[in-house]
Amino acid sequence: MISRRDFLMRVGQAGGYSAAFAAVQSLGLMPMKGAQAEPIAAAAGSGKGVKVVVLGGGIGGLVSAYELKKLGYEVTLLEARERPGGRNWTGRNGTKVEFTDGTVQTIQWEEGNYQNLGPGRLPSTHWTMLGYCRELNVPLEVEVNTSRSTLLQSDTANGGKTVPQRKAINDTRGHVSELLSKCIAQGALDSELTKEDRERMTSFLKVYGPLNAQGAYVGSDRAGYKTPPGAGTQVPVPEVPLDMRTLLDEDFWSSLFAEETWDWQATMMQPVGGMDRIPYAFAKALGPIVKFNAPVTEIRKTAKGMRVAYKQAGAEKQIEADYCVIAIPFSILKKIPNDLSEPFKKVIDESQQASAYKIAWESRRFWEQDYNIYGGLSYVKQGPSPIWYPSARLMHPTGVVVSGYTDEQSGNFAALTLEQKFAASRGSIEKLHPGHGKELKNPVFCGWKRIPWNEGSWIRGYGGTSGYDVVIQPDGPFVLAGDWVSHVVAWQEGAALSARRAVGLIADKVKMAKLTTTSSETVAS
Ligand code: ALA
Repeated sequence: MISRRDFLMRVGQAGGYSAAFAAVQSLGLMPMKGAQAEPIAAAAGSGKGVKVVVLGGGIGGLVSAYELKKLGYEVTLLEARERPGGRNWTGRNGTKVEFTDGTVQTIQWEEGNYQNLGPGRLPSTHWTMLGYCRELNVPLEVEVNTSRSTLLQSDTANGGKTVPQRKAINDTRGHVSELLSKCIAQGALDSELTKEDRERMTSFLKVYGPLNAQGAYVGSDRAGYKTPPGAGTQVPVPEVPLDMRTLLDEDFWSSLFAEETWDWQATMMQPVGGMDRIPYAFAKALGPIVKFNAPVTEIRKTAKGMRVAYKQAGAEKQIEADYCVIAIPFSILKKIPNDLSEPFKKVIDESQQASAYKIAWESRRFWEQDYNIYGGLSYVKQGPSPIWYPSARLMHPTGVVVSGYTDEQSGNFAALTLEQKFAASRGSIEKLHPGHGKELKNPVFCGWKRIPWNEGSWIRGYGGTSGYDVVIQPDGPFVLAGDWVSHVVAWQEGAALSARRAVGLIADKVKMAKLTTTSSETVAS
């Protein structure tokens, strides 16, 4: 009998890599094309005559409504705000950032400049969201999440001076390779590696380091030049490597490998013109199904399903439905009188939300014009961080840069006034780009804990380890959706996956209900 492995070898020889790749896919050994999400397991038109109300118009609610509509359900989506998207919110000239305490900031930026105040990047591994962008014709461009020209800075390392990431990364690699090479030469790894593998490892480290013939790391053009290669007599002069002690300073390298995180690896993407192009595309596809300015005031169970009360234009209204997808953040849901069962209420009441914020400024693009930094993120150790340079509109004279994207709880940032927060944010830019702090204009602070209808950035705890297992179950007519009921917290992908799962759970219930009705009819006849 031919083994799978043999079969793949043969296909590979006959048809080359692409034939082998297609065969591997058809044998189910690799995921199919990343572009599409799995279809929801429900028959076309199976939702006909079934009413579902979706609460919340963030990505979780929008995807739920969109998929329910596709299956023929009679759907209504209630959204408290005047816009779709929830945390997927793009700030532009004129955008009002209002806090629960009444503070209002109105963004004043040039036409065309913008900042994604919530999600700002789409990983190439988030197939569901990318699939929706394709399906809804939302044009994407590269979001430069990694730039070797960006900077690292710590007050307690390297005399407070910045180090370009290319230098930090490549000098670290060089020093580590040299040490490992020495260990091998001195016999420290003799019991770990065979003689042959020791030789192979030594050859590998020469290239990986790179190391010289004596096995030493003496610098590399990968780490940058003091004088770059040029025309005529301009010969390149490489940088002197940073010493290992500086690189090992624990305050210094902790941000170095952020870009290696699975969902932050290149290539990352963003919608052209702002992340909110995604929710607006969903809202357009849904049409009048979506009711804006419609905050939910009560969520009740009924004998036949459920009933939701909401307000619109000052009037009290209500809708009865068979099922309900609740895609409202727990921070808000806990304040709405509801008939969810006790275990759900407990988890929702005890849940805690993080208080991530972003501070963004408009400025001349000094990072591009004076530092050759095009997109990517720089990190300062003491002060608001990271500094996130725009990937949109490269080479435009002005742009919007983030200086500070972290949690308000860190460093007691929450206690600072707006002016103090802006001063700290400007200070971080000044540490990285001395003299340029004064070029920053028209800041905006978006602290998600302070934003009505969110009152938190993403879920931080479920009030107990088993809480998650409770809230992913259906509760009578209710199913919850949102990134907080997925293992992809703080990503739109999590919201979309949870929504698709919610629709699947409702489809199963509908199928069961139909089967039960049919069999009781059969018995009756
Ligand atoms: N998903 C969020 C980000 O990429 C946390 O910044």
